[in-house]
Amino acid sequence: MSGALDSHAVPVLLSPSALQHRAADPDTRARETEAQMDDDERFSLLYSLMVRVFGKAEREPRVPAEVPAVAGYVPGVQRLGIPALLLADASLGLRHTGGPDDGATALPCGLAMGATFHPQLVQQAGKLVGKEGQARGFNVLLGGGINLVREVRGGRNFEYISEDPLLSGLMGAAMTAGMQQEQVIAVLKHVSLNASETNKFFLDAVIDPAAHRESDLLAFQIAMERSEPGAMMGAYNLVNGAYACGSRVLLQETIKDAMGFKGWLMSDWLAVYHWDFALHGLDQHSGAQLDAQEWFNGPLRQAYEAGLVPKARISEMVRRMLRSYYAVGIDQPPPAEAVDWQAHHATALQLAREGLVLLKNENAVLPLAAKAQRIAVIGGWAQTGVLSGDGSSQVMPVGGYAASLPLRSHPLLGPTTMRFFGPSPLAELRKLLPEAELVFDSGAQVADALAVAKGADVVIVFAVRHEGERFDSPDMALPFGQDALIEALAQAHPHVVVVLETGNPVVMPWHDKVQAIVQAWFPGQAGAQAIAEVLTGAVNPSGRLPISFPVNVEQTPHPALPGADVELGTPIKVHYHEGAEVGYRWFAQQGRQPLFGFGHGLSYTDFSYSDFHVSGGETVSVVFTVTNTGACEGSDVPQLYLTDAAGAPRMRLLGFERISLQSGASARVSLTADPRLLARFHSESGHWHIEAGIYRVALARSACAPECSAEIALRAREFGH
Ligand code: BGC
Repeated sequence: MSGALDSHAVPVLLSPSALQHRAADPDTRARETEAQMDDDERFSLLYSLMVRVFGKAEREPRVPAEVPAVAGYVPGVQRLGIPALLLADASLGLRHTGGPDDGATALPCGLAMGATFHPQLVQQAGKLVGKEGQARGFNVLLGGGINLVREVRGGRNFEYISEDPLLSGLMGAAMTAGMQQEQVIAVLKHVSLNASETNKFFLDAVIDPAAHRESDLLAFQIAMERSEPGAMMGAYNLVNGAYACGSRVLLQETIKDAMGFKGWLMSDWLAVYHWDFALHGLDQHSGAQLDAQEWFNGPLRQAYEAGLVPKARISEMVRRMLRSYYAVGIDQPPPAEAVDWQAHHATALQLAREGLVLLKNENAVLPLAAKAQRIAVIGGWAQTGVLSGDGSSQVMPVGGYAASLPLRSHPLLGPTTMRFFGPSPLAELRKLLPEAELVFDSGAQVADALAVAKGADVVIVFAVRHEGERFDSPDMALPFGQDALIEALAQAHPHVVVVLETGNPVVMPWHDKVQAIVQAWFPGQAGAQAIAEVLTGAVNPSGRLPISFPVNVEQTPHPALPGADVELGTPIKVHYHEGAEVGYRWFAQQGRQPLFGFGHGLSYTDFSYSDFHVSGGETVSVVFTVTNTGACEGSDVPQLYLTDAAGAPRMRLLGFERISLQSGASARVSLTADPRLLARFHSESGHWHIEAGIYRVALARSACAPECSAEIALRAREFGH
């Protein structure tokens, strides 16, 4: 039996020398333990085995029978107290490992968490995932994903946080800190530029290295510095000509040497192409059986024995791993604790509430008026549940799915399935509106939907789009004829509310004709309740868009989906010509107006900003007052942007604060910018530079809605990291 598994059942007896070790710092302990290991033990740590390989009936025989079907297993070294690793997917809660009883708390998707702009709450989510992982004996959790959203059709965007390095970095830090507080190792993923799914194994992401540091890598750096994830995972794609998991520039020179990452770097599953990736900075080969060879098993050992790999490098790989084991404390897991499912559900609910974004609300059609007697609820499987995203982040809630609908089967990519979490929005609305008559129609036939809508006081249309890992959406449209359905209802009825369960922005050709639009994302197991509460006004919406919603794909830096025009397996280059000007930064640079800007989100109350003071010098600091001037309690997310730097336009989110206020109440908010957001990265020097000059900042409701601005002088500054 492995160390990690039996340590839950049997208290670990520690020798006096082991007890002494506890007090030592993780680096010293890692060095001392590694020095006692023999080469067989060292190499046994350098690759993980997938417990159940896709398409194979039998389990991997090298994995102990009691280990559930997690993504990866690494044996321990019992004589040295090194625990086995059980690596489980956990971006949005614990991934289902196949057993009927291994349900877990299904959190709202990453974009919904991003939309909360509430790192403290996301940290609570990290803690709950950590607790559930701990209870199952999993000690390495593969999440969260913080790739920046660059591609508006990206199949995994729902799993990530945002298009902004600061927001994604802070949320990644919060998720990591929460998990690691529970003594499980968090794995931030995927460095870097895994921005789309189509042909991702053969896609070379080409980017200016300085722009890369100012965008995607800055998100990882912020998260890493704040919460020291035990490990990070490389991406599938190539970056500037080298596979991400074998790129010396990316892994060794940037993440380890320049950014100072202390943990270990693992590959993604099926992302290693040679043993020499170990020489370029990769420390562990994940799911080794998936690749053409178990590179870090036999071939790396042979290369080492042939003198092609220095012993010091193998020792370093092991030391990095052990350092994280000790720093997070997975060698001494806490006593087993029963999971408090109710408390975890409450966190999932709060996240869903804070992550819903009210995009539009004309004539205050929402919250639903108490006098609305007859309400038509149409489409989107609203009678069944709320949609979830597909792929390795899929969580099965305790008790199972409300419905699973196989959608398509791709000969190379496998099947995709639409999975719904119960309860249904229809049931939750009925609970909150016991006096009203709610009539439902699936929307399958427009004529039936129109008949149901006729005579209703208000029409709520739910629209869904299935999205997930391994496939991008071909365009920005809603599938299943839902645009035509909404259009027809909007023509026929003056009070139409649209609720979108999507993992990306969609085109909204009907957006002028409907009265309200709620972006509900994939809202997790408590999503239906949160939707019903927001629609009825039991909860005041407070989510803000963590990504820009373009009018159409032509407005984005990549109107054509990269890789869609070639055979799967054809090497392609994608030039991320927008560089660090991702999302709202791109819109600002191009002078374009999105349909809804980054940071946008409405409330049932109003907020005003006053007494805005700015100070400069080394960085920008601001203070201001937020007042709830409306009639009900609510939460606001004031945002601070850089708009001009030393005379040139440059848009950067510098800070934000989520703040809850009673009607009439005020609060003073202070924000200080991370100087890197005011600087440019210079590849030649490897330093950040702030140019002396006048900097303009704006206090804003969204990237497109500045409220007030001010200018301030900054001194010239150059700094590392
Ligand atoms: C995904 C990773 C995931 C891994 C293990 C890969 O396909 O890209 O995010 O952690 O599988 O399931």
